[in-house]
Amino acid sequence: MARALGSWRGTGEPLGTALAGAVREALLDGRIRPGSELPAERRLAAALGVSRGTVTAALARLRETGWVHTRHGSGSLVRLPAAAADRVAPLSATGDNGSMIDLRRAVPAAPQKQYLEATLRAAERAGPVLAEHGEPRPGLPELRAVIAERYSREGTATRPEQILVTNGTRAALTLLAAHFQPRLTAVEIPTYVDALHVLRGTGTRLVGVRVTGDGWDLEQLESAFAAARGHLAYLVPDFHNPTGTLMSPRVRHTVAELAARYQVTVVADETLRDLDLREEPAGIPRIAGALLIGSASKSVWGGLRVGWIRARASLVRDLREHPLAGPLSAAPMMQLVAAELLRDPYPVLRRRQDELRAQRDHLCALLDGDDRWRFTCPPGGLALWLQLSAVPADTVVRHANEHGIALVAGPSFAADATLTHYLRVPFTPPRPVLDRVAAVLGDACAL
Ligand SMILES: Cc1ncc(COP(=O)(O)O)c(C=O)c1O
Repeated sequence: MARALGSWRGTGEPLGTALAGAVREALLDGRIRPGSELPAERRLAAALGVSRGTVTAALARLRETGWVHTRHGSGSLVRLPAAAADRVAPLSATGDNGSMIDLRRAVPAAPQKQYLEATLRAAERAGPVLAEHGEPRPGLPELRAVIAERYSREGTATRPEQILVTNGTRAALTLLAAHFQPRLTAVEIPTYVDALHVLRGTGTRLVGVRVTGDGWDLEQLESAFAAARGHLAYLVPDFHNPTGTLMSPRVRHTVAELAARYQVTVVADETLRDLDLREEPAGIPRIAGALLIGSASKSVWGGLRVGWIRARASLVRDLREHPLAGPLSAAPMMQLVAAELLRDPYPVLRRRQDELRAQRDHLCALLDGDDRWRFTCPPGGLALWLQLSAVPADTVVRHANEHGIALVAGPSFAADATLTHYLRVPFTPPRPVLDRVAAVLGDACAL
């Protein structure tokens, strides 16, 4: 135990607090296994060269926050807090790991129980995959079939040959951008930050289309498609990141028409499609003719690193021959795990949707009716998109940072660096953390 903890003194905190932090960190980065038994207090104190009181204080703190479980009459076990092992909030977004409340990413943690069970099932039948060369391009047949089946079930008839498996949605976009080499790309303002990074990296020029909680600006949509004639558009029609807006069937129709008129290849990023938080979800139509990209990142876990492209079979054949297709492919074992989880994603999704809906409603209620900001309560996704009335978003971000909460200001989401008075506020954390976030936002805007 003493060896696993390494050097943990000198943080400036009281020794008991520093020791508790060191145990948490050792558990989180794998130096101590969950379920390991802690030595008796006296022995641990001797091994660490501290007083017994320090160990007692550290254990009390760890017990309070759920990181240590003490069985009456026997020893104490180190473990992940029960809540952390089974909730949508990543530990880093709750502050329970002893550091900042990190809301720079709006992402769910893995559904631990189902994820580990799927991993075991995948391992049990990995033999034939392991006996192969290990570069499963364009994807394991089984996973391509599972993905194709879901499209077909949702009304977009799809054969497995129309699916190319990648290492996530960003890899899918990277491959498509490398294949098409667009000179111009129409993108939403705001849009997903990493998609901007991918596109900027290809040297394409970006043309913006405004999106708010009320929807897409149709005039800008037309002028952006006209400007990008013969090139590309990257859109997030389903619970758009960061606004959470769902593109209406009418706008989808307009996008398809404009794409045909101006010969623009539309890439629709559907990564957030499963985060439908409407009380009575209805089917969501797709943009006719668009290349569809998606992943298991929001439906399951970002660490799974499995995504895909759905396109016509001839394009999938071309894409698999691209020199980047290999480096951007997903590891075969991960594909097996994904097949296990995506075959019936609904139990995981239903729980996730219920939890996120309750958190969204809580945050909306906390922030509602305050003239320091405006927002539309989104029908899905993971965050509120707040328009601040007076204080610039970077001032709020700075203030929140000083109070232990990390957020991202609007300009990061904007291809043209505008949106200085917008802020993304994820509702991934549990309610007590959202209470704290709302209080800090209130303070910052009262400055
Ligand atoms: C619109 C959108 N696409 C894709 C992703 C994730 O991409 P990947 O599948 O590479 O993890 C996110 C994550 O925030 C997103 O918001």
